[in-house]
Amino acid sequence: MPRRFSITGGRVVTPGGVLDADLLVEDGSIAAIGGPFPPGAEDVAADGLTVLPCGIDPHVHLAMPAGAYRSSDDFASGSLAALRGGTAGLVDFVEPEPGETQSRALDKRLSEAEAARILVKFHMTISRWDSETASEMERCVERGIGSFKIYLAYLDSIGVDDETAFRVLERARDLGARVLVHAEEGVAVDALRSAFSGSGRRTPPYHALSRPPECEAAAIAKTAAMVRRLGGPETVIAHVSSELGLAEVRNAKAAGLPVLAETCPHYLAFDASRYELPAPQAARFVMSPPLRSPSDAEALWGGIADASIDFVSTDHCPFDLGAKAESAEDFTRIPNGVGGVAERMAYVLTEGALKRGIALDRLAEVLCSAAGRAHGFPGSAVEPGQPANLCLWRLGTAYRYDRRLGGSRCDYSIYEGMEFAALPEKVFLGGNLRAESWTVATPAKGGD
Ligand code: URP
Ligand code: ZN
Repeated sequence: MPRRFSITGGRVVTPGGVLDADLLVEDGSIAAIGGPFPPGAEDVAADGLTVLPCGIDPHVHLAMPAGAYRSSDDFASGSLAALRGGTAGLVDFVEPEPGETQSRALDKRLSEAEAARILVKFHMTISRWDSETASEMERCVERGIGSFKIYLAYLDSIGVDDETAFRVLERARDLGARVLVHAEEGVAVDALRSAFSGSGRRTPPYHALSRPPECEAAAIAKTAAMVRRLGGPETVIAHVSSELGLAEVRNAKAAGLPVLAETCPHYLAFDASRYELPAPQAARFVMSPPLRSPSDAEALWGGIADASIDFVSTDHCPFDLGAKAESAEDFTRIPNGVGGVAERMAYVLTEGALKRGIALDRLAEVLCSAAGRAHGFPGSAVEPGQPANLCLWRLGTAYRYDRRLGGSRCDYSIYEGMEFAALPEKVFLGGNLRAESWTVATPAKGGD
């Protein structure tokens, strides 16, 4: 793109509201919103289009090992899928192996992430507490890690007990870092899993029955109690899936605690009736926490609208059909996770803005700006001085989504065949056109 160009005739979604305004981009940054501009700028016509900041997805698992499997997208394919769908930044995870230091695991993950085509940052997962953990956490913060992750479920692998959770929260508070919590009561979930599995009840519906909303709500309440006792740190509840869980988030916020919440598109778009499908199809929808009831999904939309929910992330962690089908008759062995990194923005804009009338600036906040601020991604709001990471959306023209548009390497998408009415027509990173209508233009690093 030229050094200076204008985007004219569009609707611009700024943090302060939606404006009918032209934009001037100069040297990769937004120079001005609202003309008149000095003459000589090339024009990008945006008549009928809506200009949003590119998305930031604060929770993805690229190339994540899971037993015999690995999540389908690596950093190259996952980041390109994100870019096609209008997303400019991802936050993935460093998950040290047993006996490996956080620093060493971070080195390895940083080198894997060099294949990414957009900016990627990391949460550091803590799955044990030993004599090195406190100092390793400090080293991570010195190297730019601002967020630690703990799992209160998966106690047989990466999950932590309450004492470790408390120590991680305390140390993160002292280091000024944030903690992301997978909030499901691991002991109760494990008891339910054993009871179902031990009595031969292993089909996908038992996946959901073994992880009920009460387990989510209890883990959120416990986390909030620790944050209250410790006076911090800022804590994000990952992938809130239920109305009961959301009620605990609201309680924590009402008490003035620094507790934030994420939900994911799959909890908004689908419900637990999917687990009644024949096992190989049902297995496609197995993730943790599981899908809930339609009224839970309604409640989550309410949480997005009233700002009880701060982020919509994807928890992008798809596994190919073969991996899902292989153990579909035994929910304890189905690899957990679904994709969405390409579809997140288009789905949420279609359903949230066009069908439910949620304000575009509110959706820009949960899809882009809140995560951008939390993780330090420049260009996650349309404001003068920011890098021009902009997506020009055609809103209101329906089309049927085909997974090949998103381009994830996974061989299925739970959004396949869904009607979307939000098309990412032009995606700019740092003022350069990088993708058009689901097609990557010139793969390149973000922010340039
Ligand atoms: O089912 C899920 N969510 N898989 C990814 C790992 C996690 O629990 O976040
Ligand atoms: Zn996750």
